[in-house]
Amino acid sequence: MKEVLIIYYSQSGQLLDIVQNLATSIEGANVSITYYRISPKNDYEFPWKQDDFYDAFPESFLQIPCELKPPKADILEKKYDLIILGYQVWYLTPSIPINSFLKSDVAKKLLDQTPVVTVIACRNMWLMAQEKMKRLLVSCNASLVGNIALVDRHINHISVITIVHWMLGGKKTKYLGIFPKPGVSDEDIKASEKFGTPIRKALLSNDYSSLQDDLLKLDAVKVKPLLIQTDIRGNVLFTKWANLIIKKGPTGNPKRKKLLVLFKYYLLFAIWAIAPIVFIVFLATYIPRYNKIKRDKAYYSSVRLKNN
Ligand SMILES: Cc1cc2nc3c(=O)[nH]c(=O)nc-3n(C[C@H](O)[C@H](O)[C@H](O)COP(=O)(O)O)c2cc1C
Repeated sequence: MKEVLIIYYSQSGQLLDIVQNLATSIEGANVSITYYRISPKNDYEFPWKQDDFYDAFPESFLQIPCELKPPKADILEKKYDLIILGYQVWYLTPSIPINSFLKSDVAKKLLDQTPVVTVIACRNMWLMAQEKMKRLLVSCNASLVGNIALVDRHINHISVITIVHWMLGGKKTKYLGIFPKPGVSDEDIKASEKFGTPIRKALLSNDYSSLQDDLLKLDAVKVKPLLIQTDIRGNVLFTKWANLIIKKGPTGNPKRKKLLVLFKYYLLFAIWAIAPIVFIVFLATYIPRYNKIKRDKAYYSSVRLKNN
């Protein structure tokens, strides 16, 4: 009997729907599936209050862990053949609950020498978060064997508007009745069942060497070259902001609050004014950078970790 552990965190339930659909084509003869939802001691409220949404930025980006509730004892009793880790991105970084889990002793025990398939469900900016995830998995002595990244397929600026409506309003509905629904589409959530088939095959044969290639054939990951640049640039700018804000002290500190207001306006400016400039530069340099873009696409679609 092969034992699979599905570890996830989800506020809206979107990620749970995805991993459950995926599991339908993994489970069956000779495979047993266990679920483990990561629970922060003080869970993040959903829908978000606007202030809390921005206040999560420094700890999220700087990967400062929060306290988690321990899992039920029976989860720790088994040794798993495969772990599926469902996570969302907060501020270009694995969300605080997920990051906290991966820095915990529980993760070190569960993930040690275990193959891991990551399943991301976010707006669309997950590339550098997955690089951080790769490093967190190395620190747990786990081996990343597959990655599936599901995103909002609408254009960047539309998805920014609709995700705010979802995160602050709590409902995955059409904003003003005219915008598209936010997040991963219902069709993509349903279709995520298809990814379970190659995962089951790899699990039963204990051979994960071609799993990511098989997943790529099913469009598990689509790397948009423009978003590589945007994500890298965003990380440089976020590093400056996060270090500045964290120095002001913990949540509730009035100086921190003031700086977070500035950060909020900066973020809007970056999305609406800087991102289009990055886009123009990207287009202007596309041809001379073509080979590098091709190499980058292949790298970010893979489960490899560059050693720099
Ligand atoms: C505080 C916060 C920051 C987020 N930052 C990003 C981000 O940087 N990139 C991205 O693609 N999605 C981002 N998202 C969207 C999430 O990745 C995710 O799609 C959404 O929160 C739904 O996840 P759920 O399964 O927890 O409900 C953010 C969401 C929140 C709440």
